[in-house]
Amino acid sequence: MKKIAVLTSGGDAPGMNAAIRAVVRTGLERGWEVFGVKLGFAGLIEGNINPMYDRSVSEIMQRAGTILGSARCQEFMEIEGRAKALQYLEENGIEALVVIGGNGSQTGSYALTQMGFPVVGIASTIDNDLYGSEMTIGVDSALNVALEAIDRLKVTASSHKRAFLIEVMGRHCGYIALMTGIAGGAEAIVLPEVETNPEELAAEILKAREKGKAHAIIVVAEGARYNAEELSHYFKLNRDKLGFDLRVSILGHIQRGGTPTLFDRMLATRFGAAATECLDRGEDGVLVGLGRGEIITTPLAEVVSNQKKLDLSLLHMNRALAR
Ligand code: F6P
Repeated sequence: MKKIAVLTSGGDAPGMNAAIRAVVRTGLERGWEVFGVKLGFAGLIEGNINPMYDRSVSEIMQRAGTILGSARCQEFMEIEGRAKALQYLEENGIEALVVIGGNGSQTGSYALTQMGFPVVGIASTIDNDLYGSEMTIGVDSALNVALEAIDRLKVTASSHKRAFLIEVMGRHCGYIALMTGIAGGAEAIVLPEVETNPEELAAEILKAREKGKAHAIIVVAEGARYNAEELSHYFKLNRDKLGFDLRVSILGHIQRGGTPTLFDRMLATRFGAAATECLDRGEDGVLVGLGRGEIITTPLAEVVSNQKKLDLSLLHMNRALAR
């Protein structure tokens, strides 16, 4: 192996920079040339690729986002787009690609491997919904940002005896809502994985009021059947059913821009180093992830055809705790 390229794709995630740094420096350490692709797969199609050196990745570990930039690239979903990217890689003698990203990105990685190009994926998304890794880069930082917001909202909720609907990210997955809901002591957690009826939810909140609670925190995943906006619409029309004055807070992209935690920097560094190790031993077409605390690899074919499961026993545990 002489020349490899690295890119970040999909939603940015705190820790991506630490992964880029690890890929670049461990690649250079092996005596390879390492190239950085700007703006994900879009940069690959346009040939927006530059050589990277030790100093190109100095002082980036502590920065959220990605120094390479990221994009969701529709053109890469088409075979013509991928063929253009492949042509560019081959013309420039690049022999393998490291793709740092989540589900959509690894679907792109898999499609490239299907066309015969060696790719190693690195599990990175704040949603933590990627099969093949129990934790993905960025989720720990995003969880901590969301949790801090919940803690703050709880204080003001108590002062005013209010209920708060707090919507967190996660796309179709309830992981962020479940974790921050439990750690934030929420009275209710609304997930895409569990059908929640607004009327039953209101009854649960009313019960909290009757039990003497000064506040009610409802953490809602953005992908739930009823999101925060829809639930608040229902609650406003049925205020007597809730028993609290209601406020809504949608955390949105704030969750993606936090300083990477130590956990994310370590995870990303281990993943980045493992990716070049894989390429060195000729293992490609795989995702580098975490399994029982260890670095593992999973074939991309398996990653894209399986869905990660959420541990719903935790939701039942929280129902018992929110007394
Ligand atoms: O996949 C990460 C994520 O932040 C999801 O939680 C969210 O649904 C989505 O990206 C938002 O995408 P965009 O940044 O393109 O609006």
